Amino acid sequence: MKKDLSSDALEPVAGNGLLHRRLFLTQGAAVLGSGVALMTARNASAAPLEVPATMKTPGVPASGYGERSRFESKVQRITNGAPPTPGTGGSRTPLEYLEGIITPNPLHFERHHNGVPDIDPEQHRVLIHGLVERPLVFSLDALSRYPLVSRIQFLECSGNSAGMNTPEPAQQGAGGLHGLVSCANWTGVPLSILLQEAGVKPEGKWLLAEGADAAGMSRSVPLAKAYDDAILALYQNGERIRPSNGYPVRLFLPGYEGNMNVKWLRRIKITAEPTMTKDETSKYTDLLPNGRAEMFTFPMGVKSVITSPSGTQKMQGAGLYQISGVAWSGTGKIRRVDVSADRGKTWAQAKLDEPVLSKAIARFRLPWRWDGSPSVLMSRATDEAGNVQPTRAKLMADRGPNYRYHYNAIQSWNVTAAGEIGNVYV
Ligand code: CO
Repeated sequence: MKKDLSSDALEPVAGNGLLHRRLFLTQGAAVLGSGVALMTARNASAAPLEVPATMKTPGVPASGYGERSRFESKVQRITNGAPPTPGTGGSRTPLEYLEGIITPNPLHFERHHNGVPDIDPEQHRVLIHGLVERPLVFSLDALSRYPLVSRIQFLECSGNSAGMNTPEPAQQGAGGLHGLVSCANWTGVPLSILLQEAGVKPEGKWLLAEGADAAGMSRSVPLAKAYDDAILALYQNGERIRPSNGYPVRLFLPGYEGNMNVKWLRRIKITAEPTMTKDETSKYTDLLPNGRAEMFTFPMGVKSVITSPSGTQKMQGAGLYQISGVAWSGTGKIRRVDVSADRGKTWAQAKLDEPVLSKAIARFRLPWRWDGSPSVLMSRATDEAGNVQPTRAKLMADRGPNYRYHYNAIQSWNVTAAGEIGNVYV
């Protein structure tokens, strides 16, 4: 017997109006046009549209480098206050304004330790030395002649969402709270090829990566990661990497905490042990409740956040909404994302947009019929290794109040009857 998909798709699948994800399939889309008020489109009257001014005069000619519409200028990276010293700190991706899985280059998050250097690619060199048979030095032209690989992958600062450990929830949007994550198509030379050419000595087990910035930012990386999927990235979304993201070359370590993806890369030294640089001892260690600190915690955990509707946005009255959000894991692909509209009591599986890629942002969606009553929206991601995003209560209980890096707990958005949306701890 043929199932009546239309009525099926409108049947709630979890508490407080969550509908089945199949509502977004082709047949389901017709349901939207046939009686279920989307609340956004107004009935067209019989009168024809006015001819706009743009149809009466020619537009501007083609340009050398594109700009977005002037009406989109409000979409900016988010900075939380002035940095303690100039050049430190960073800026966040405004996640709530973006769709799909790619972060436009001008909105990719930044994190600097002593400002953005102005590097001439003609002068720049990358040195591979230390425990190698043949120390090698590369110009940018030389690097560009190696075979390139291209992958869509996320980058997340280890300190992303660290503001979520405050006693009271900060009232910010998705980007202000969690925007130290972005996703781009990174293209570069596999580091494994260069290491084979240099000939790593048997006692070489780690590498030191050093940037050409005024902080001399440097981190230790296990060689296993270098041989696995590390690249020296030259391109970001098809164009040369931006200065704020490491121009002209950065180390890219898929899934690993952002700080290790050393920008403005100038030196790779093969070592037997980690170097214990200032950037991995005084920072980027995880202080535990017992006073001990974990070091070298590299992969970013499985995580998700609903970007629409989300904090600082406003609901437009009761009716049908599309919940949309982003999920990612430093371990591999996102397997599923579940959404709750009733404070975590019941959950419904969201639809994942194709493609779902390893160590990339995945976009999830779920229809929600909001009845106008107070609600709490949550999303919970699971990756292909079976890691499940923890609740905030569990993460804080396990990790203690000093925990700062690798925060990956479930984000909860409180929706009031008036349609205001805010950050809430559940
Ligand atoms: Co870490």
